[in-house]
Amino acid sequence: MKTTIRKIGNHVEETVTIGAWLANKRSSGKIAFLQLRDGTGFIQGVAVKAEIGEEKFKEAKELTQESSLYITGVVRADDRAPSGYELSVTDFSIIHEAKDYPITPKEHGTEFLMDHRHLWLRSKKQHAIMVIRNEIIRATYEFFNKEGFVKVDPPILTGSSAEGTTNLFHTKYFDEDAYLSQSGQLYMEAAAMALNKVFSFGPTFRAEKSKTRRHLIEFWMIEPEMAFMDHEDSLELQETYVSYVVQSVLKECSQELVSLERDTAQLEKIKAPFPRISYDDAVTFLQKEGYEFSWGEDFGAPHETAIAESFDKPVFITNYPKDIKAFYMKPHPEREDVVLCADLIAPEGYGEIIGGSQRIDDEELLRQRYDEHSLSVEAYQWYLDLRKYGSVPHSGFGLGLERTVAWIAGIEHVRETIPFPRLLNRLYP
Ligand code: 4AD
Repeated sequence: MKTTIRKIGNHVEETVTIGAWLANKRSSGKIAFLQLRDGTGFIQGVAVKAEIGEEKFKEAKELTQESSLYITGVVRADDRAPSGYELSVTDFSIIHEAKDYPITPKEHGTEFLMDHRHLWLRSKKQHAIMVIRNEIIRATYEFFNKEGFVKVDPPILTGSSAEGTTNLFHTKYFDEDAYLSQSGQLYMEAAAMALNKVFSFGPTFRAEKSKTRRHLIEFWMIEPEMAFMDHEDSLELQETYVSYVVQSVLKECSQELVSLERDTAQLEKIKAPFPRISYDDAVTFLQKEGYEFSWGEDFGAPHETAIAESFDKPVFITNYPKDIKAFYMKPHPEREDVVLCADLIAPEGYGEIIGGSQRIDDEELLRQRYDEHSLSVEAYQWYLDLRKYGSVPHSGFGLGLERTVAWIAGIEHVRETIPFPRLLNRLYP
């Protein structure tokens, strides 16, 4: 019977065949321990000389790392095995013999591993991260579908910027200038006026010159946008959504979290509501902590970490100064100098995972912002139209997938949270 490692528990004491690669091996005079992986999981195969015969045993001992095999054996339940099962090998055939696989079980430097990203993805750690990434995406679709959201796909090639012009990726669109999308938000606002509650999930691009553990050039964002929802409604949705995703990963990816040695006690605590601190109070806090920081500046990573350290859940920093935020954010009704926005900062130093706000819904005010930000009315006329024809209060946010994966999986650098990271100095492989 053909099966996969993931489903092998359904076949205890039965003989099964799996297609697999040899991740690693150890052998003594009489037994060969074959670490097998098939993409759905990892399992140890045990080949005993007395059982498979001298010739097959010799072949097993000579198997090379990453050779592909069909391997047959009897499934044994084994509490000591990380997966709970072992395979008593009865036979195998080599599909393809790999020679000199470059990533050996010894330690390798990061640059070497990044150069071999196409192979590094096969490692147990990278496998676990990709499975968790997938679970976050799956739980996201499940959550928003349950909440009545419609998935909408905004364009990637755009004629205008959503998040300022400093990190735009420029390209030609035949004879016109075009940019790779920094955020689908403006289009999602149009979609919300057509479909009420919408969300997108797609790649976004920022020509960031920052070389930090939190920045990618190409990253994936989940961007919900909701008609008739104000800033407060949006914060409640964000904390419910993030809690849902964390609890889904805890439930569905327990093996992966163990193999990554993630402290799951930290994740168990992630349940709505989340604490909130205003920008004003955050500034006072930082000053008390001895940081040289004045009102009106934007937080850097050390500031965010210092603020987040006071909490064991993600914390919303709300109502930032208008001058350091995007043009489309709605002013606070009682304070002209701050806007109805929040960044959600993950605990344990993983930084900002969400940026969101209530959007300006008044045509005149938006025109004024166009002037202040030197945005051409022609390029943004369609966005103004949303305030012209049945404008409504609306809010939305963007969650950065890779930073969220880094936090939940407990990974130091975002480069390991996306299959093929695009970094400041890396477009290969
Ligand atoms: O705060 P940002 O810039 O918000 C927006 O783009 C809004 N238009 C979203 C919206 O309201 N629809 O980015 C949102 C999130 C950040 O919190 C962060 O998690 C992630 O996107 N992010 C990055 N992730 C990796 N590398 C980068 N260079 C990132 N820049 C932003």
